[in-house]
Amino acid sequence: MDSTEASMTEMDHSGATSFFQKAPPLKNGDLISEKLKEFVRRNLEGVTPRGIVCVTSGGTTVPLEQRCVRYIDNFSSGHRGAASAEYFVKAGYAVIFVHRCGSYQPYCRYLPEDSFLDFVQLDEASNIQVPDDHAATVRKAIREYHKAVGDGLLLKLPFTTIFEYLQILQLVATSINCFGCHSMFYLAAAVSDFYVPWESMAKHKIQSAGGPLDMRLNQVPKMLSVLRKEWAPAAFCVSFKLETDPDILTQKADAALKKYGMHVVVANLLANYKEEVVIVTQNEKTTVRRKSKDEDLEEQLVGLLTERHSDYIN
Ligand code: PMT
Repeated sequence: MDSTEASMTEMDHSGATSFFQKAPPLKNGDLISEKLKEFVRRNLEGVTPRGIVCVTSGGTTVPLEQRCVRYIDNFSSGHRGAASAEYFVKAGYAVIFVHRCGSYQPYCRYLPEDSFLDFVQLDEASNIQVPDDHAATVRKAIREYHKAVGDGLLLKLPFTTIFEYLQILQLVATSINCFGCHSMFYLAAAVSDFYVPWESMAKHKIQSAGGPLDMRLNQVPKMLSVLRKEWAPAAFCVSFKLETDPDILTQKADAALKKYGMHVVVANLLANYKEEVVIVTQNEKTTVRRKSKDEDLEEQLVGLLTERHSDYIN
């Protein structure tokens, strides 16, 4: 490690420590720890350690008031994370799905837009009926979801704010550290880069009578190097890089690979992220394209990443 990288690590470390010291305490932190402990215990059993992956999904919010009326949000729908979680379960991984409340969920990705009210009907006796054209899809989703949860392969942990997200990520990382190189992080969540520190945040609703609002946002410390170096040093780490300017995308992905010690960076552009991503590693860049409207790009993506993870383990 050169001296610039060493001082970067120290800065990330002290930024992370100060962020956590000043963040509001995580609601249900004890319950989350209990759920993680049980999930880890169940998946550590057996002769061959199972692969475990933490999939983060959806966008974090930045509250502007402690008794929050307003917040800053971003565009992420959580579709990528939800679809990927399904394919990781299919590949035999235990999945910890850290997701934004209300975002897309594994096995019912069609629900937020087309609610169940569009799927079901009432017959003359007011019994719930699923029309034939949807019945097979709904049956498959219910079966696969309950199987994943019943087999102990899916644990869902919701977050809303940037404070909750980073605290949960730390809890997950330290809980699955015992899986060593068999653990993976797949960081598809769109994490806020700027926030209002809790202690300088207005306690009550900001009044419009005060005139135009002038607000300074602090930088959220990047947790990637802390995750990599301290919380889960043996884990296989996949981060995402989203840009709007195609000219800087791969260069930024290369930089993230080096700066944060990621094993893979998945680079995507806002304009076509549902159609195409580039898997960037130290040795190669592989473009993955969705072949048809009926296919999930995440199926290919997860397939390639689980192969890379196996190489890493071996
Ligand atoms: O949810 P969908 O609508 O399906 O969209 C999917 C997606 C486009 C959001 C996803 O494919 C994606 O690109 N996610 C990452 C978006 C993002 O936050 O990019 P970034 O360049 O700002 O951050 C890069 C990485 O740093 C991310 O893996 C993030 O986890 C991490 N990060 C970011 C900010 C921060 N303060 N700390 C971090 O650790």
